[in-house]
Amino acid sequence: MRKKIVAGNWKCNTTVKEGVELAKSVNELVLTKGAKDVVVVLGTPFTHLTSVVDAVDANRINVASQNCAAEPKGAFTGEVSVSMIKSTGATYVIIGHSERREYYHETSETLNKKLALTLEQGLTPIYCCGEALAIREAGTQNAFVKKQLDETVFLLPKEQLLKVVIAYEPIWAIGTGKTASTQQAQDMLAYIRGLIAAKYSKEVAAEISILYGGSCSASNANELFSQPDIDGGLIGGASLKAADFLSIINAY
Ligand code: 13P
Repeated sequence: MRKKIVAGNWKCNTTVKEGVELAKSVNELVLTKGAKDVVVVLGTPFTHLTSVVDAVDANRINVASQNCAAEPKGAFTGEVSVSMIKSTGATYVIIGHSERREYYHETSETLNKKLALTLEQGLTPIYCCGEALAIREAGTQNAFVKKQLDETVFLLPKEQLLKVVIAYEPIWAIGTGKTASTQQAQDMLAYIRGLIAAKYSKEVAAEISILYGGSCSASNANELFSQPDIDGGLIGGASLKAADFLSIINAY
């Protein structure tokens, strides 16, 4: 079902102790002052998942891993499987973040395995897509994002696609302080929704939550979230401060 979602991606930040403190602060603020109709997700490092799940009210705050193994289990030293993530109480998995595609060479083939395992375990994938600056400057961002989706989530049957959250994060806007303009973000999210309508149906397109990510902050979230196709945000830097994260949750 289409929901408003504000998801934090802590990336490789915070010790377990710092993360639990941050989660407790977010929990307290969300329970007392948070917009009730916004789904809140905290994307923590693997090491923090169990402690963060224990520190928050499960009825109000969801916990996500930022990645998962592409194999269900076995001799894959250093990997963390979806069933392990599920066993912590986390319910979302961020898949295909541009930092993982770029620095860890994750391909569509790998991402499809991760998507399948996540869906199989009943967890919700937050599937990331988005173009680099050179592609945006060449004006070919729509074709680029379409290819990323065609090769992965658009291969899923309707029932499974309906369980996926899509996050569009233009790489040039991540951590740069340079947000996509409200129009650029709305245009891309409307384009993605149009692709879903054409490939599946208008009804399916209307049900899928599509998020924007990239330097989303307390000061620009309000304008971004006012757009008809923007169902929330995937927040990096601003999710590391509880008060800023609350402001974004309350930007609707
Ligand atoms: P920033 O909000 O720090 O730009 O990061 C966005 C992001 O990559 C979230 O996944």
